[in-house]
Amino acid sequence: MTEMKEIVLAEFKKVFGDADGAKVYFAPGRVNLIGEHTDYNGGHVFPCALTIGTYGVARKRNDNKLRFYSMNFENLGVIESSLDDLQPYKEADWTNYPKGVMWAFGEKGMKVPQGMDLLLNGNIPNGSGLSSSASVEVLTGFILRDMFGFDVTNTDLALIGQFSENKFNGVNCGIMDQFAIAMGKKDHAIFLDTATLQFEYAPLKLEGAKIVISCSNKKRGLGDSKYNERRQECESALESLQTMVNIKSLGELDEATYEKLSPVIKDGVKCRRARHAVYENQRTIEAVRALKAGNIKAFGQLMNESHKSLRDDYEVTGIELDTLVDAAWKVPGIIGSRMTGAGFGGCTVSIVPEAEIDNFIKQVGETYEKTIGYKADFYVVEVGDGPCVL
Ligand code: GLA
Repeated sequence: MTEMKEIVLAEFKKVFGDADGAKVYFAPGRVNLIGEHTDYNGGHVFPCALTIGTYGVARKRNDNKLRFYSMNFENLGVIESSLDDLQPYKEADWTNYPKGVMWAFGEKGMKVPQGMDLLLNGNIPNGSGLSSSASVEVLTGFILRDMFGFDVTNTDLALIGQFSENKFNGVNCGIMDQFAIAMGKKDHAIFLDTATLQFEYAPLKLEGAKIVISCSNKKRGLGDSKYNERRQECESALESLQTMVNIKSLGELDEATYEKLSPVIKDGVKCRRARHAVYENQRTIEAVRALKAGNIKAFGQLMNESHKSLRDDYEVTGIELDTLVDAAWKVPGIIGSRMTGAGFGGCTVSIVPEAEIDNFIKQVGETYEKTIGYKADFYVVEVGDGPCVL
């Protein structure tokens, strides 16, 4: 981290002339271990923050100008905007994320009083589904709080980030990503009830195993529209169920109650979507119980079940993620493997005994390239803290 601090400060100097009065910040990326597509269904999730993420250098200005520069998109150069024009523009590209957060603070009664120069450098693999956009959102909120003394908690930073993504950037995401990033804790995963935002940190005792991320390198394309489609299917299934039972979300049902009531959902597809949401929520509760009891094997089994449900009932995996997971399941000693994040591309998360990691990368990598025609990338990740000043 100290090395990165020097790198981003030097780049800030180059781009903005000098770095006098500039501060360096960091916000992590996240990976979800289990509890997928449950966060907008009032269910539980179990993500953790990573030690990779987004570094930012920020400095207040004496006018209303905003000047943004990303080392990940050097070809875009400095993108300028103003606090008097907080609107999303296609050509504003990635800067719509920090701008969205500035806009969201204003909407919540905390008008950003002065402009800033902001440089970012992320080391989350691009388009991997490890939440680089939520990382930028939480980072921006964290910087605004530090710079202007806004009275907000880290949970507020998560909610403001989600609000900006929903309303400014038009992606109807749940709270998981921003929450995991804002509330991250080293070597712990976050067991979050998305209906109440009650949460608990669970120590990640992986007993000599590590978290390995396999990145499919599939470009997403239709992802966002499919994501919104799944949300609508769940909402529609919920409406049918509500004619029978007084519930606010699918997360309130256990499996038995769901099975009893499900015939009221006439559409077979919606029925399967709701079944995933209900079973995945219960699986997540069960998985955390297993982990706390030191039963990592059971935890891994539930991860595998999660993948099957996302593949068969929720239909958000696709050949790339299924190939990665099928190959991972064949690696000797593997504890568990599943797709993670929204799906339709992105990456998988696997828990792999340390001694098997090289073999895992070789075996899964070869099978993937042979089947799909291009390479996957692998990252052995560490679980880290939430946002900080460096
Ligand atoms: C994306 C969204 C999250 C969550 C996951 C699926 O990462 O941003 O809110 O819905 O997909 O679990």
